[in-house]
Amino acid sequence: MALNKYMHPRNVYKDRKPNFKKLAEKYEEFHKHVLHDDHGTVQIDFKKPECLRALSWALLKDDFNLDVLMPLDRLIPTIPLRLNYILWLEDILDRETETICGIDIGTGASCVYPLLGAKKNGWSFIATESDGTNYQYAKKNVENNQMTDKIKGLNVWHPHHPVPGTTQENYLPEEYSVH
Ligand SMILES: C[S@@+](CC[C@H](N)C(=O)[O-])C[C@H]1O[C@@H](n2cnc3c(N)ncnc32)[C@H](O)[C@@H]1O
Repeated sequence: MALNKYMHPRNVYKDRKPNFKKLAEKYEEFHKHVLHDDHGTVQIDFKKPECLRALSWALLKDDFNLDVLMPLDRLIPTIPLRLNYILWLEDILDRETETICGIDIGTGASCVYPLLGAKKNGWSFIATESDGTNYQYAKKNVENNQMTDKIKGLNVWHPHHPVPGTTQENYLPEEYSVH
């Protein structure tokens, strides 16, 4: 995990390495994937996707009260880095603006940027995704975290025109529009 000088100054993970022992004590989902060495140190195997998923899940749960499903055969987001990006966005956005709506093109199965932005800052999002499985997971994650009022999901299918409605052929028919 990148805990280095490029981390945003307000990133909670900048100087606070995730405490695997505490997370394992608190969450069975994480506990299942930890290894104990002879000195009692708790570690995880970063080469295993199920361990990475358990860590991302636990951090989202513990630090943001988000419960996020992530399929093992898709990208598992690294939470400190995703948070970095949200913090950079905070820096460039006008804090006086009351309504902020972002568009996340390629939101992934986790829908991590919209979920973090909505939870942390109350921002709204349009989240697009071209992969059917990722889209279904993203939709479920938005619903499970009671974010349907903040995050609208769009299943776009034309890979070369990522924003729906920008060309004739990727105009969304009614049944592809979720909310
Ligand atoms: C590298 S992943 C990033 C996922 C997520 N944003 C994250 O940072 O964890 C890129 C995602 O974009 C989706 N994607 C690729 N081309 C797209 C397009 N033209 N429109 C919408 N989604 C697209 C892929 O299916 C994939 O889920």
